[in-house]
Formats: sequence, C-alpha cells, structure tokens
Amino acid sequence: MKNTRRYSKWDELCLGVDQALKSIFGNAKTTARSYPAENEPEPNLTAEQRKQSASLMRVNHAGEVCAQALYHGQACTSRQSHVKEKMQQAAIEEGDHLAWCNRRITELGNHTSYLNPLWYMGSFAIGFTAGLVGDKYSLGFLAETESQVVKHLQHQMDLLPSSDEKSYKILKQMEIDEAQHREDAMKAGAAELPSLVKKWMNFTSQVMVKTAYWI
Ligand SMILES: [Fe+2]
Ligand SMILES: [Fe+2]
Repeated sequence: MKNTRRYSKWDELCLGVDQALKSIFGNAKTTARSYPAENEPEPNLTAEQRKQSASLMRVNHAGEVCAQALYHGQACTSRQSHVKEKMQQAAIEEGDHLAWCNRRITELGNHTSYLNPLWYMGSFAIGFTAGLVGDKYSLGFLAETESQVVKHLQHQMDLLPSSDEKSYKILKQMEIDEAQHREDAMKAGAAELPSLVKKWMNFTSQVMVKTAYWI
C-alpha cells in the first residue's frame, strides 16, 4: 500500500537517522528475497582461504552500506516524487545484498568493516550532492555506480577461493541484480556523466575497497 502520510522536517530527520543506523548495523529494509547460498554446503576452507573470503565479503558489505547511503542521500534531494520513490525502492532492493553479505561474513566467522559509519556518511554526502544536480544526472550517477559495481563484482569473484561456492553464488546474484539496476536507471532517463566524474567515482570507490579489505 502506498504511504500517503505527510512528514515534517523533524520526522524526516528522525527517519533518516533511523535508516542510517539500520544500514550500518545490519537491519536495513529488504524485499526478503531468499539467500542465494541457502542450499550450498559450507566449503572446507583453510584458515587463509576463509580469511580471504571474509575480507572480500567485508568489502562487498561495505559497498552495500555505501549503496544504501547513496540512495538515501539521492532520495533526499530528488526533485520529482517518482525519482525520490525510485531511490528509496533501490535502497530496499540493495538491502537484500546487504543482508546476504552480512550473513556470509557471520558464517565465515568474521566482522563487517569498522569504518561503516564513515562509509555511510561519505556516501550519503555524495548521493545528496548528486541529487541536487538534477534528476537525470542523479539517475546517471546511479547507472554509472551500478556499472562500476558490476565490474568490481566480476573481479571479486575471480579473487575468491575456488571452493567457496557459497560466496560465489551471492556475488553472482548481486552482479545480475546490479546490471538490472543499471538498465532500469537508463530506461528512467539517466544522463551520461562526464568522464572526469566517472574517474573520480572510481577513485573514491577504490579507496573504500582497499581499506575495507583490512578493517
Ligand atoms: Fe547491491
Ligand atoms: Fe544495485
């Protein structure tokens, strides 16, 4: 059912803080899709392989925290209500990825990035700014983000220990979903971003990827 309630600025601030805390601490809204690795047996990994898988999944979890923050930030400053709703819906769909990565990290006996609050705040600011530039550029930003995430996930799958089918299945489903998100944004009227902006986006995401692998 569509929510028609009108919120005051104070309500919106409280809802925003609530969304942020839920994204950072692993309780974000999801569509409740089933876990892609549900029927896959736990592989027999060496301690080193287990650490490698967990570090990669920590990076992907941090990436999904960033995705939540980007979409929440973009939703705040989107001008048209249908774009605002699209950003909020995108965040809920990304919530599935966040929950899957979180579960896999727990299965591997490891922890999520200690810097998740920082990733969230930085990405929220970027999303907020992208929304201010205008809806078609905000959608262009979404499309470019998804495009870079697809390439990143393909690389991450190559780095996984070959016997870790569980993590592989999660990343494979995420790759399919992110490609679809890109398509949806393009169909909704995304503008092509200048190449300098794309390079800057790639640089900032690499900072997160390299750091979250360790902490
Ligand atoms: Fe995602
Ligand atoms: Fe996505």
